[in-house]
Amino acid sequence: MKRLLFALFAVLSVLVVACGGEQKPEAAKAPDCEKPIKDPNDPKPMALMMRTMANYCDTMRLRLLAGGHVDSVEFPLMPFKTAEPTDSANLVPLFYENAARFEAAWRKLMADTLNQQDDYSLVIASCVDCHNSFCSGPLRRIKKLPLDYREER
Ligand code: HEC
Repeated sequence: MKRLLFALFAVLSVLVVACGGEQKPEAAKAPDCEKPIKDPNDPKPMALMMRTMANYCDTMRLRLLAGGHVDSVEFPLMPFKTAEPTDSANLVPLFYENAARFEAAWRKLMADTLNQQDDYSLVIASCVDCHNSFCSGPLRRIKKLPLDYREER
């Protein structure tokens, strides 16, 4: 119970922090995802869940690199595919197919006890996959999530 409360608190604080927004306009590269980036202070539920997932991945990445383990209590699957999006034109069959693949990858990661690093890499590949089709703006953020990402100097 304590742990659950802590997880809830973590989610809320992540949301609050994420609402500060760090996206810059990149409309030319992402015409299909213009609005969430242009107006980061009035995000729709789907955009908020995406930010939470990205923050989860930051934390999971560091944990796994340190040899630790992640689980679905701390990092629950976000029900983003049924959440209100900024642009409902994205809700086409390919979006749901990508979402299903992503969810399968996330569940596999959380269920695994042996090789979570590989599972995590598949999760990030699923983020990239969907974003290549629907919303390329956040790819700059997602690019920093793979385990072998190194800050460019
Ligand atoms: C099935 C498709 C799909 C998958 C999988 C997916 N995304 Fe998204 N993502 C979207 C769409 C569509 C939006 C735009 C949401 C909106 O504005 O309502 C978005 C928005 C975002 C945003 C911008 C949110 C903002 O501030 O407006 C980030 C960051 C993001 N995704 C990160 C991720 C990460 C990290 C993953 C994997 C852990 C991921 N996404 C997986 C489709 C996807």
